[in-house]
Amino acid sequence: MNIGKLKLNGPLVLAPMSGVTNLPFRLLCKKYGASLVHSEMTCSEAIVRQNQKSMAMAFSCVEERPLGIQLLGSNPDTLVHSALMLQEIYSPELIDVNLGCPAQAVIKNGFGSALLKKPELIRDIIKQLSDALDIPVTAKIRVLNSRDETLRIAQGIEKAGAAAITVHGRTQKQGYSGKSDLEIIKNIKSILAIPVIANGDIFDEKQAKHVLEYTQCDGLMLGRGAIGNPYIFRRISHYLDNGELLPRMTFGERLEEFFEYAALCRKYDLLTYNDLKLKAQWFLKNRKNIKSVREKINDAKDIDSILGIMGELRADTCIKSG
Ligand SMILES: Cc1cc2nc3c(=O)[nH]c(=O)nc-3n(C[C@H](O)[C@H](O)[C@H](O)COP(=O)(O)O)c2cc1C
Repeated sequence: MNIGKLKLNGPLVLAPMSGVTNLPFRLLCKKYGASLVHSEMTCSEAIVRQNQKSMAMAFSCVEERPLGIQLLGSNPDTLVHSALMLQEIYSPELIDVNLGCPAQAVIKNGFGSALLKKPELIRDIIKQLSDALDIPVTAKIRVLNSRDETLRIAQGIEKAGAAAITVHGRTQKQGYSGKSDLEIIKNIKSILAIPVIANGDIFDEKQAKHVLEYTQCDGLMLGRGAIGNPYIFRRISHYLDNGELLPRMTFGERLEEFFEYAALCRKYDLLTYNDLKLKAQWFLKNRKNIKSVREKINDAKDIDSILGIMGELRADTCIKSG
């Protein structure tokens, strides 16, 4: 898939996810075959104010490239200003505009999916960004109840100069209920010339292949399926290329992934107690008979305790499998 002048080596894209897609996590997804990774949404207003926490969200390194930085906002001037600042500091390969976030705190400010009610403003934002930046500008949308309105929004985004569009086939109201509507994604793909990336509910190889074939989209974006499971990118990419299902990662291998994550956090000075505690639970996802380990992690008082508990589990797992 090519997004403007950016050539990607495959169709699989890591979704922007707040609280999830920091640099260490993006590096793991990249290692397993994500062709493009996204930072978590970053508020344009906060960037312009030089808020350090927001600036750090886009912190990057060469090994993860290509990187898309996702911006949240509704004022075209502020979005352009913040994108130029980020371009100068981090040189991302593209800027993505968040037109889909359904969170109350976001829509009450008129950002994210609230913008879907203002097609003219969307066009203005995409046009001004595309004119001002020398990297591709993309947009990530949710769908509306009306099929025709959704198609008009998508066409407007293309006409305004976007280099690609990602479509999560749920409405703002749906949140995560129901299913991502593949029909509307397919409709959008059929009327646009720019690449369309399908998003929503891709949790395994077969669903990935089905979505690609059914919608005829150029790419697939994975969100929740990658949480605690960056290896999913290798499995899906192998299946799309060879039609074979790779064995699942063993629990021991998943624990190693957790330690690699922790080491990357340390390397890039991003190791925090809250993040590590959450990520430890994610890497233990779906594992039975480890309730006491989960409880110990919940009660852990500091980073070293979390690493210690996970280390004991690693040693135990190693003994049992060896
Ligand atoms: C924890 C979490 C955080 C998210 N943060 C963002 C975000 O920052 N920007 C965005 O556009 N979408 C965000 N999303 C939505 C995802 O990018 C994606 O569109 C959605 O989860 C549907 O894809 P999935 O079914 O593969 O998870 C988030 C989703 C989750 C679960």
